[in-house]
Amino acid sequence: MTLSKALMDWYDANKRTLPWRVEKPDPYHVWLSEIMLQQTTVATVIPYFEDFLRLWPNVAAMAAADLDEILHAWQGLGYYARARNLHKCATVIASAPAGQFPDTESQLLALPGIGPYTAAAVAAIAFNQPTVPVDGNIERVISRLYAIDEPVRQSKDRVQALAMKLLPKHRAGDFAQALMDLGATVCRPKSPHCDQCPWAMACKAHKMQAEEGFPVKPPKKQMPTRHGVAFWLENADGAIWMRRRPEKGLLGGMVEVPSTNWREQPWTEAEAREVARLNVEWVPREGTVRHTFTHFHLVITVWGGVITGNSNADGFWQQRDRFSELALPTLMKKIVRHASS
Ligand code: ADE
Repeated sequence: MTLSKALMDWYDANKRTLPWRVEKPDPYHVWLSEIMLQQTTVATVIPYFEDFLRLWPNVAAMAAADLDEILHAWQGLGYYARARNLHKCATVIASAPAGQFPDTESQLLALPGIGPYTAAAVAAIAFNQPTVPVDGNIERVISRLYAIDEPVRQSKDRVQALAMKLLPKHRAGDFAQALMDLGATVCRPKSPHCDQCPWAMACKAHKMQAEEGFPVKPPKKQMPTRHGVAFWLENADGAIWMRRRPEKGLLGGMVEVPSTNWREQPWTEAEAREVARLNVEWVPREGTVRHTFTHFHLVITVWGGVITGNSNADGFWQQRDRFSELALPTLMKKIVRHASS
């Protein structure tokens, strides 16, 4: 049996019952469901899908609706740009001469809010055009089947081409939906149910017992780790010594707990003491504060100290109960929390 036939048999026996999945799907329904399903689960979408069809049973009705009504009905689905585009797209389709839904991938792609995935999904599901929409589920299924050794970003065209080779002659819509269902219910990201998979016998990742290793993850950026010592200096009033960072550079112009600079070589006690200069009895806090910037990891050790007079360095005293007025960057909030605990 071919892989295509095995998948179609599995789909015929196991397909999920979904309100937009009918014998002769209405393109308007297919389009609406695909827009709603972007970044949202099937379970969340179903009641919205049904509401929308009650309110606007066809594309002309949606085009005639007020954008505000659509935005209101969309509440809870997130990403309002999608709802705005929905309305825009309905308007374009309804005002076309025949008022017909475009039925080719390239015409669909030209519409507002329709990207390559949605264009292919609507073309395949609503019009049975021979194309395969590649979403995250389908990427996972295909990259496991062939043990594709590249991360998704590089392998997208290859995944698309391999999926196209498997496309059965007359069932493009069912094939796309079968792959979606397989990815969602069997070929799951974690703990896939390979015992229920119609492709297990052929699946290279399964043979390698490495299903979860596909799709391959992109390499993690190699980032250096830098180290610093922050000085948590308290005066007799319980205020903390803070300073503003230079305008230029990382966290420019933001308030900080003063520290050594941040360098790859960890600081020795003597070196940090040299930077602090003050004649204070420093007590290192247990543990460290960790933070990752776009291009390096930072590990901060915090030293606590109490001063009776004033500090002669740059900066100002800040009362602890007024820290919230400072709009501290995340790293500094972490340091404050660590020092105060
Ligand atoms: N996810 C996105 N589109 C879908 C569809 N048509 N059926 C099931 N899951 C989907």
